[in-house]
Amino acid sequence: MQELWATPFRDSTEYENPLDGVRRSDYAPRTQKKAKNSGKKANDPVFRELLSAPRLNPHGALVAGTTISHPFFARFFARCAPAAEHLGGSAHRDELLEGLEGRVIEVGAGSGLNFAHYPSSVTEVVAVEPEPYLRARATEAAGQASVPVRVVDGTAEILSFGDGIFDAAVASLVLCSVPNQATALAELSRVLRPGAELRFYEHILAEEPGLARLQRRVDLFWPYFGAGCHTSRDTLRAIEQAGFSVSSCRRFTFRPCLLFAPVSPHMIGRATRP
Ligand SMILES: C[S@@+](CC[C@H](N)C(=O)[O-])C[C@H]1O[C@@H](n2cnc3c(N)ncnc32)[C@H](O)[C@@H]1O
Repeated sequence: MQELWATPFRDSTEYENPLDGVRRSDYAPRTQKKAKNSGKKANDPVFRELLSAPRLNPHGALVAGTTISHPFFARFFARCAPAAEHLGGSAHRDELLEGLEGRVIEVGAGSGLNFAHYPSSVTEVVAVEPEPYLRARATEAAGQASVPVRVVDGTAEILSFGDGIFDAAVASLVLCSVPNQATALAELSRVLRPGAELRFYEHILAEEPGLARLQRRVDLFWPYFGAGCHTSRDTLRAIEQAGFSVSSCRRFTFRPCLLFAPVSPHMIGRATRP
C-alpha cells in the first residue's frame, strides 16, 4: 500500500507579500492584533472566540500550523447538530456517501456525524478536523464506526499527505467555513488520484435574488458567530473553478429551524478530479 504520510508537513510560514515584495515570516489579520492588544478583553473567552480569526498569509490562505479553536461554536454544534439529523440530515449523509470505495479523505469532519454512514466498501477514512473539541468528539465517533476511521489534526488548505493517494474526498458543510475555498479545493485535488470523486454536501448561495441579498447582508456578522461560516458562497462554481468536473448536483431547501433560514439552500453532489 502506498505510504499515506509521503509528504512532510509543510511548515514554512514565510511568504512574500505580492503588493510590496517584502518577505514576512507570518501574517495575522487586524482583528487578531487588536485582540492581542486589548488588555482585559483579550482574556475574556467569548471575546477571544469572536476574534479568533485564523492566521492567513497575504494570499488569503491559512498559515501552516495555525490552530483553529472555537470552543463555544464547537459545543453548540456538537449538541445541536444531531437534532437536524432526525429532520433529514441523516438521509442527506446517506445520499452523500452512497457507493464510495477505497481510501477516503474527509475534511472538517466535525463531531464525526458522517462516520456511521460510510458504506462497507470504504476501506479507510482519514478524517481531518482542526478544532480540538470537535476532534475529540470525532475520535469517539470513530470508535463506533463500522469502517476504519482515523481522525487527524489539520486543515483543508494544508494537507500533510502525498499526491494522489486517496480514492475519494468528502466535503460536508465545510466549504462554507474554510478561509479560502480555492486553496482548500486545490489541496483536495492534489491528494486525490486522477478520476477520483469529490463528494459534497454544502449550504450555498440562494438562486432567488431576495434570499441571496439577505445572505450577503447576514455574512457581515454570521462568520463571527458561526466559526467562519459564510452563508452566501457560490460553492458549486468554486468546485468547477478548481478544475473538478461536476457529474451530479441536487439542489434543495433544508431548514431544520427558523434561525437557519439564511443557510437553507443546500446541494449534494459529485465531481470528478481530471
Ligand atoms: C459546520 S461543521 C461541519 C462538520 C461536519 N463536516 C458535518 O458535516 O457535520 C464545519 C467544520 O469545519 C471545520 N473547519 C473549519 N475550518 C476548517 C479548515 N480550514 N479546514 C478543515 N476544517 C475546517 C470546523 O472545525 C467544523 O468541524
